[in-house]
Amino acid sequence: MRPAMRVVSGIQPTGNLHLGNYLGAIRNWVRMQDDMEEANRAEGTTESGDAGRNQCLFFLADLHAISMPHNPAELKRATLEMAAALVACGIDPQRSVLFNQAQVPAHPELQWLLNGTARMGWLNRMTQFKDKSGKNREGASAALFTYPVLQAADVLLYQATHVPVGEDQKQHLELARDIAQKFNNDFASEDAPVFTLPDPISPPKAARIMNLRDGTKKMSKSDPSDMSRIELADTPDEVMKKIKKAKTDPEPLPSEEKGLEGRPEALNLVTIYAALTDGSVEDVLKDFGGEGFGKFKPALGELLVETLRPISERFTALLDDREALDAILARGASQAREIGRPTLEAAYTALGLVR
Ligand code: TRP
Repeated sequence: MRPAMRVVSGIQPTGNLHLGNYLGAIRNWVRMQDDMEEANRAEGTTESGDAGRNQCLFFLADLHAISMPHNPAELKRATLEMAAALVACGIDPQRSVLFNQAQVPAHPELQWLLNGTARMGWLNRMTQFKDKSGKNREGASAALFTYPVLQAADVLLYQATHVPVGEDQKQHLELARDIAQKFNNDFASEDAPVFTLPDPISPPKAARIMNLRDGTKKMSKSDPSDMSRIELADTPDEVMKKIKKAKTDPEPLPSEEKGLEGRPEALNLVTIYAALTDGSVEDVLKDFGGEGFGKFKPALGELLVETLRPISERFTALLDDREALDAILARGASQAREIGRPTLEAAYTALGLVR
């Protein structure tokens, strides 16, 4: 039997969650959780206490969020919102470990221990630091510079075997592997490594969901117009209205994908329909080619309302029940602390630190 998979992934909390977030990272997480469950069933390892169990740990990277200028009240709100959204979208805290970093001090603890192993030269090559600090390197926070070391701690703490990473995070995972390798070489014996080197897994390519008022821009939480995005908290009426008012062109839908070239708004609406039905743009055009938006928009609106209804109900209910939400995060954090403890202790010990 192959060894259990342990998937670990984090996401920075953002507020005003919208359809783009759902059809992107969030839905991928739910799929990974379901895949793990499937594997457990196939291998007969369904007991939650089973050590050989395939498992996902998902967390809100709230500690990473303070590496950029931020507003504390907004960070708090975004963290709770994101947690509620993840549960509403299908992350099941009974099956996956769901928590926020700030409740698991082992993350920053291990980061400090790993700071002794990470090399300045390695961090200097990180493109995200260059991008985010821009022209103002001297004014960037030290946290932004050591951000990738915290990210390494995030996954190494749990002996992650697999980390789903998009293009922009590949370099950070490579760094985590380099740190793990060097630490093992320098401080552990070959037959008892402290850290597992995690492998990247590429999440399925998420649909790019664009702004409903301008199909050339990504759907974004920061666009000033509410009408530009569908939010997870929108009521069915709001969803319907936003789709009906979405910008389009006067042409009917083409019967082939090529006919959508130069029609970004039409392409976006078709893309949304395809993502919601787990089909392709071609599939949608097979059904709607030749139809005008007078017919397509109501169909899309209804599909969206039906998909989002249970999600937004759960989402708003959880946001209104802070106690329930706090309990979910507290339980996840306590599980995470348990899972991470042996590795953290092993790292302290390997370094010669008296405990
Ligand atoms: N840096 C990641 C991002 O911005 C979030 C993240 C933090 C992460 N720690 C992680 C992702 C560990 C995967 C594993 O997307």
